Amino acid sequence: MAPLKIGIAGLGHVGCGLIELVQRQQDLRLPGKVAIAGVSARSQSRNRPVAIDSYPWFDDAATLAEDPNVDVFVELVGGSDGPAKFAVETALKAGKHVVTANKALIAKHGMALAKLAEEKQVDLLFEAAVAGGIPVVRVLRDSLAGTEVKRVAGILNGTCNYLTSTMLEQGREYDDVLAEAQRLGYAEADPTLDVSGMDAAHKAAILSAIAFSADLDFSKVSVSGIDQISLLDLRMADRLGFRIKLIAEGVLTQAGVVCRVEPLALPATHPLARVNGSLNTVRIEGDPVGAITLTGPGAGAGPTASAVMGDVAKLFRPAIRPAFGRAEHHKARPFVAGAADEVAPFFLRIRLADEPGALAALTEALAKEGVSVDKLLQDSADESGAAPVVIITHRCPRSHMAAALARLEKISIPVDAPRLIRIEAAS
Ligand SMILES: NC(=O)c1ccc[n+]([C@@H]2O[C@H](COP(=O)([O-])OP(=O)(O)OC[C@H]3O[C@@H](n4cnc5c(N)ncnc54)[C@H](OP(=O)(O)O)[C@@H]3O)[C@@H](O)[C@H]2O)c1
Repeated sequence: MAPLKIGIAGLGHVGCGLIELVQRQQDLRLPGKVAIAGVSARSQSRNRPVAIDSYPWFDDAATLAEDPNVDVFVELVGGSDGPAKFAVETALKAGKHVVTANKALIAKHGMALAKLAEEKQVDLLFEAAVAGGIPVVRVLRDSLAGTEVKRVAGILNGTCNYLTSTMLEQGREYDDVLAEAQRLGYAEADPTLDVSGMDAAHKAAILSAIAFSADLDFSKVSVSGIDQISLLDLRMADRLGFRIKLIAEGVLTQAGVVCRVEPLALPATHPLARVNGSLNTVRIEGDPVGAITLTGPGAGAGPTASAVMGDVAKLFRPAIRPAFGRAEHHKARPFVAGAADEVAPFFLRIRLADEPGALAALTEALAKEGVSVDKLLQDSADESGAAPVVIITHRCPRSHMAAALARLEKISIPVDAPRLIRIEAAS
């Protein structure tokens, strides 16, 4: 299969993230090879985290968009109008597929661009425009085509979620947390698009248009942000069992689709209330599927570039893919048995014979095999006379646990088979 030739306009966070993925594509599961036919940005000489010297340079994004050598134009410039819009239109008119991460462009001009793409029989793909690395566009459009969606709601702006979570967790005011987030690069120097709710509104409008087959009309979307939320609001809500979060939603009503973004007070047990930090989450409710929740990184160079590359992967022709997505050039990796001697903390539940020194024998056996105990819980002996004990160990090889249990077996300390369960690290 001939390589798929992409032209990349915009070499910032996401553009460089994409180039990095292209450069290590042998590790990915693309249906064929991707070649970079050209790149474009404002400045050719700017210092970038990836080498771009080997790719043809274009001063103008639109010239790259219609270059005969380009099969797919990837727009990563940003902005609802100006050069991004002009270059995307140019690419579509020239009969090129377009992949973009630009939510502002799609929210404002998506309908007209989709019409142009349909006329030209090319694809316009924008997975990365909504919720960064979470593949929600594809799930809604393709996987849930057999579900009547009633509501799509979520946390679609990581910056706002980070700000409100951190304010409550650390008892700090909005301005203080925002200034720190800007210093650390979690928030833009100009955070207006994020904190006003506008960025989340762009994403909610795109999701609603797909979920409800609706004509996207951004002027009908109501938007309010978190810039007026104080620590006092968050604390008082918390005391009453609520979390205040910026929620973006689209709901199907008798009259049509209602799309809005606003801070909502959610019961602390609500699935969206428990998503903290810069994560994004999307909950799709529909019939007959019920509810599906997707959570993950909503931004960042790597996750967003991954979503862009997923769209590029869809554009290989022929469109029919091997059932397990495996192409001839992929590294064939063997299945191997699980690591026999993994190192982890363990949960050990054991019922000890009711005799003096049984607990001491247990801890001694563990110590002799180099297993150190993190926590220990012992209950009173049950009616059979056996005392249940639970031990949480520090990290150790599984073989050390097995050896300690073998020692105990020999002196008949456990009354029945102990239960050994590996503890998964908190992520
Ligand atoms: N960053 C994320 O986590 C994220 C997540 C989801 C979606 N997105 C979307 O992805 C797109 C790119 O975001 P980003 O964070 O990568 O932006 P960025 O870091 O600001 O990069 C923008 C790139 O566009 C180039 N550019 C700006 N104006 C231009 C013009 N007039 N002509 C040609 N090139 C121009 C810049 O050139 P120079 O390098 O020469 O300055 C830069 O390479 C945006 O639509 C954004 O909304 C980003």
